[in-house]
Amino acid sequence: MDLAQFGARPDGGVNRQALSPEDIAGRAQFITWCEEQGYACSSDAVGNLFVRRAGTDPYADPVLTGSHLDSQPTGGKFDGAFGVLAGLEALQALDDTGIITRRPVEVVAWTNEEGSRFQPGCMGSSVFIGATGMEDILGCRDRDGVLVADALAQTLAAAPNLPRRSMAFPIAAYVECHIEQGPILEQAGKTIGIVTGIQGYRWFAVEVRGQEAHSGTTPRRAQKDALKAASAMVNALETLMIDESDTLRFTIGRFEVEPGSPNVVPGRVFFTIDMRHPDQAVLAARAAAVEATCRAAAGTCEVTVTQTFATPPIAFDGAVVDLVAETADRLGLPSMRLGSGAGHDAGYMARVCPSAMIFVPCEKGISHHPAEFATSADLAAGTRVLADMLADLANR
Ligand code: GLV
Ligand code: MN
Ligand code: MN
Repeated sequence: MDLAQFGARPDGGVNRQALSPEDIAGRAQFITWCEEQGYACSSDAVGNLFVRRAGTDPYADPVLTGSHLDSQPTGGKFDGAFGVLAGLEALQALDDTGIITRRPVEVVAWTNEEGSRFQPGCMGSSVFIGATGMEDILGCRDRDGVLVADALAQTLAAAPNLPRRSMAFPIAAYVECHIEQGPILEQAGKTIGIVTGIQGYRWFAVEVRGQEAHSGTTPRRAQKDALKAASAMVNALETLMIDESDTLRFTIGRFEVEPGSPNVVPGRVFFTIDMRHPDQAVLAARAAAVEATCRAAAGTCEVTVTQTFATPPIAFDGAVVDLVAETADRLGLPSMRLGSGAGHDAGYMARVCPSAMIFVPCEKGISHHPAEFATSADLAAGTRVLADMLADLANR
């Protein structure tokens, strides 16, 4: 609740977009909380924040937990923030109970998980593991034309005393707590979600170019209306994405019409596509048809389809997934296995170390919405599983 004051919206939600002044202020508060507890913070060149609780063997690879502090523009209090604060809480629990670990335990707040202000998301974790290069992200701009390079420089400059960490240091294991962001746990009456993997997703940017013209004087047969072409594309894509089992996800979340004047025939439309499926074959087949589907609906307009992001379905490490299940059982917490519909930094970490996630229910499955809510009891339960797992993994 305290963290949610940074970027607080009047409707109770949070707008703490990546590398914004609100994000910078939230990070500063988080660093203060960590330092008050005696933990050393550091950050890497892409702004990922690390908090370290030392182990007895300073040379042992750390066990890492965390999530992200950035939010959607109309986000809630829990998406990402829970995983970071659960990590800090777990460190404090290890201190309070006097548990000594061989490996260091570290908490991370990854930069720009959401991908709302700057695309694509999971920027911090993908650069950290080397899946994306710094040079690939620094030139990305937000809608106002602000570069990642400049927003990142401001963010790093706001915490000038943090030691600079190298990237891609070896990690023994990664565990991320998160609200489920869907209705499954709540409907099943389970407290702990044992996350088995993350569905794959593809993002596209579609630019439709027609011709601006006077709406009153230009005969309709002579118009090249980018909006009407784009609407035909949306309908054709909706048909392409029909899925009897309702497993395939398909969203057009941004749709911009230019010049946006009532009496000008639209000359340009830009829209985004986010599609997801747990089966790579299904995802690849539908994604492969996106460009041709848009072209076939373009009429006299031109269209450019660019794939902006692609990640395959991820299966988490069997042993760490089993450890979530065993730990929940030992603590007497009702649990079930499920896949993640949302993307997470854990998807990138799974490429470099044994990884898994712990979900807790969120009310009515609502997320990416100001009304996002999870109970203190459920958040605490997820954090208990995390703390136990960290103590276990850091002594292996
Ligand atoms: C992250 O919030 C996602 O898009 O799944
Ligand atoms: Mn998240
Ligand atoms: Mn999110």
